[in-house]
Amino acid sequence: MSTWANLGLQDSASPLMEQLIFFHDHALLILVMITVLVGYLMFMLFFNNYVNRFLLHGQLIEMIWTILPAIILLFIAFPSLRLLYLLDEINEPSVTLKSIGHQWYWSYEYSDFNNIEFDSYMIPTNELSTDGFRLLDVENRIVLPMNSQIRILVTAADVIHSWTIPALGVKVDGTPGRLNQTNFFMNRPGLFYGQCSEICGANHSFMPIVIESVPTNYFIKWISN
Ligand code: CUA
Repeated sequence: MSTWANLGLQDSASPLMEQLIFFHDHALLILVMITVLVGYLMFMLFFNNYVNRFLLHGQLIEMIWTILPAIILLFIAFPSLRLLYLLDEINEPSVTLKSIGHQWYWSYEYSDFNNIEFDSYMIPTNELSTDGFRLLDVENRIVLPMNSQIRILVTAADVIHSWTIPALGVKVDGTPGRLNQTNFFMNRPGLFYGQCSEICGANHSFMPIVIESVPTNYFIKWISN
């Protein structure tokens, strides 16, 4: 989860998020290089008084400053496209979790396991225990096994919600009448927090998501109650 003064991305907990962070850094590096170059050129142009009295056309420089940015854009476009397809790839999931957005809580169904279903409400601040995270903890957490492919099916019962977990690189809209799919792979144990990210009404900020990433034998123990 994000803690004090963390302005960047959260530490990744899945290979896809790792790739997303790599892409972010790559794009940011190109952005900084362009900003520095253009900033320097503008600065130097502003503070000198040379005039080219014979300037009528400059086809070579126009060729260069048309084609060069296009090539630079390709260096962003291709990794971006690769990531897009990677995020959409479903690789034989071993567990499927269905999450349904409601105003304003999530409910979950483990359709593989005797259709276990439960609601997951945020814990209000006045009922929070001392080790809980304010506005982020829920009464019933999702428990999922680490080191296995997990499929998430997202939908909603009333308005559009969005099932978003930053550490896993997952963000899927839950839309009434539709069933959206995504998948992830958690490569470490821990608690992963997320929040709804579609403006879904008055209590939009108060329908968080918590995943307990546990070893597989723990998960089997939990699922068989
Ligand atoms: Cu549900 Cu915002």
